[in-house]
Amino acid sequence: MFITLEGPDGSGKTSQLPALEKFLQGAGYDVIVTREPGGTSVGDQIREILMNLQNGSIIPRTEILLFLAARAQHVDELVCPALAAGKIVLCDRYGDSTLAYQGFGHKTDLNTLKMLIDFSTGGLKPDLTLLLDVPVEMGIARKLNNSTEWNRLDAYEQAFHERVRQGYFALAEEEPWRWVIIDATEDMESVQKTLRKALLTRLEAG
Ligand code: TYD
Repeated sequence: MFITLEGPDGSGKTSQLPALEKFLQGAGYDVIVTREPGGTSVGDQIREILMNLQNGSIIPRTEILLFLAARAQHVDELVCPALAAGKIVLCDRYGDSTLAYQGFGHKTDLNTLKMLIDFSTGGLKPDLTLLLDVPVEMGIARKLNNSTEWNRLDAYEQAFHERVRQGYFALAEEEPWRWVIIDATEDMESVQKTLRKALLTRLEAG
C-alpha cells in the first residue's frame, strides 16, 4: 500500500514519520519510509540543487522539471519495487506537493502539471494521503523556531503559503476517498495518535 504525507511547511510531517514507522513495524507491517524530493541517490542530488539558497535564479519550469525528475527516479527505483514486494511505502510528499506548491502556490496550469506528474510517476497514485494541516502563521513560526534548515523554498511570502494550504483543501475535495485531513495544531503526541488511527483504519480496510 502506498501512503503519502502532505502538508504545508511546518506541519510536522517529517517529525512524525519515525514514530509512525516504528508503530507500523510493531504492528507487524513491512514498511519503508522515504521522502521527496530525494529518496534515491540521484533524487538527493536533485534535492540539493532545489534547496540551495544560492540557486535563486532557478526559473519555475526548471523547478517543476527537477521535482518531477527526482520523482520519476524515486518511483521506478524505490517505490514500485517496494510495493511489488508487498511492502507499505510511507512517503513524505509526492505529486500533491507539486500541485499544491507549483500549481496553487505558483499558479502553474493545473492540467499541465497533472499531465507531467502522470508522466513522471507512470500513473502511480497513493492509496491514502494524510494531510497534516496547520494555519500558515503557525507553520512558519514552527519552522523559524525549531529548524536549523531554512531553505530556498521556505522563503516565499505568506500569501504563497496560504494558496498552498487552500490548494491542499481543494485537492482533498476532488478525491475525498483518498484523503484524511489531520488537525496538526495539536501537540506531537496527539497528532501521532490521530495519524495511527487513520493508518490502521485504511490498512484494516485492505
Ligand atoms: P523539505 O525540507 O523536505 O520540507 P518539509 O519537511 O516541509 O517537507 O522541503 C521540501 C520543500 O519542497 C517544501 O517546501 C515543499 C517543496 N516541494 C515542492 O514545492 N514541490 C514538490 O513537488 C515537492 C515534492 C516539494
